[in-house]
Amino acid sequence: MEEFDDGYWSAFREHDRRVREELVDGRRHLFEAEMKEDRRSPGRPAHEARLGRPREVQKARQPPISESESMKVLVAGASGFVGGRLCPALQEAGHEVRAMTRHPETYRGAGEPVRADVLDGKSLAAAAQGCEVAYYLVHSLDDANFVLRDANAARAFGYAAAKAGVERIIYLGGLGEDSDDLSAHLRSRREVEALLGCADVPVTTLRAGIIVGHGGISWEMTRQLVEHLPAMITPRWVRTKTQPIAVSDVIRYLVGVLELAEAVGRAFDIGGPDILEYGEMMRRVAAIEGRKLVVVPVPLLSPSLSARWLSLVTDVDAQTGRSLIDSMSNEVIVCDNSIRALVPFEPMDYNSAVAQALGERAEAGR
Ligand SMILES: NC(=O)c1ccc[n+]([C@@H]2O[C@H](COP(=O)([O-])OP(=O)(O)OC[C@H]3O[C@@H](n4cnc5c(N)ncnc54)[C@H](OP(=O)(O)O)[C@@H]3O)[C@@H](O)[C@H]2O)c1
Repeated sequence: MEEFDDGYWSAFREHDRRVREELVDGRRHLFEAEMKEDRRSPGRPAHEARLGRPREVQKARQPPISESESMKVLVAGASGFVGGRLCPALQEAGHEVRAMTRHPETYRGAGEPVRADVLDGKSLAAAAQGCEVAYYLVHSLDDANFVLRDANAARAFGYAAAKAGVERIIYLGGLGEDSDDLSAHLRSRREVEALLGCADVPVTTLRAGIIVGHGGISWEMTRQLVEHLPAMITPRWVRTKTQPIAVSDVIRYLVGVLELAEAVGRAFDIGGPDILEYGEMMRRVAAIEGRKLVVVPVPLLSPSLSARWLSLVTDVDAQTGRSLIDSMSNEVIVCDNSIRALVPFEPMDYNSAVAQALGERAEAGR
């Protein structure tokens, strides 16, 4: 932790304290709103009328929302690695997509572009107006202050969604055991889950580890390390276990939960079929590309040195590299498989996901 000085951690702790206070305030607000709602309609609160209650409080299995029903959906992070694939998939499933970005003038993807910044509540409320569901695919990992920025952004998004009448938020976050000593990055991703829901809009969270697909930050880091270095001196994290997932499977889950009343207000782990150490992942990529790779674990390589070295041999910026490397000491594997029963299909194995990502890259280079 040598690069995160006392100032960083005291700001983090102070922020954590404020978040807890605000969560209590948020719950109070939620409770008062629900009481009001209950008085108006003794049946169920408004957000449950359409999508049903979360599983924990359901007496019986709710039927899926009609697959032919078209919804108006906001996608925050539409221009990103995941969002760029989600928007066309939602359109294909018959939904109306509003693609949120800070740069609508350069947006070329699917859906109707709308300008909004997650740190600007007014722009968010306007973007979300009239949408039934909002996907949240935003992070600020390349910013040294990402913990505070991402917390403020999630809180602003949660409140704006409530104000605009959005019935549900779907968030793609990170895997990792709460009981583990999570990195600042993974802890922040977990904190975002709670903050998105602080104004009473139910949140469905999908927690993923490394997502394999052309342009994904963690995948690109793996690929470039393998391609740029025939021999690698790596710290202990090469032995950490992960459960990577193909980006196309992430999209199936993201679209799948949109239509399920049972997914409302719940968090799910998602992963592919293979549990692999980081070192093994790199060896497999090398084998698929027909390269030789020698991985030599060195226990004394510090995270800050690893991050600097990473920014020299890949195009991952030093700040993002540092956050990702810090997270590599945390195991990111699926602990709860309940999503498999709700959105049933066979996820792709790691080698096929790598082949698909390399194929997409070759296609993009043409
Ligand atoms: N990539 C992975 O391997 C991976 C693994 C696990 C989980 N996830 C999660 O998946 C989600 C999406 O990740 P990704 O890899 O697709 O990210 P990405 O490619 O880096 O895209 C990030 C998106 O965030 C938007 N954004 C950033 N700051 C913003 C702001 N202030 N206001 C509005 N939009 C802002 C950007 O849109 P504009 O620049 O157009 O405004 C961009 O579309 C994240 O929650 C991440 O934690 C990713």
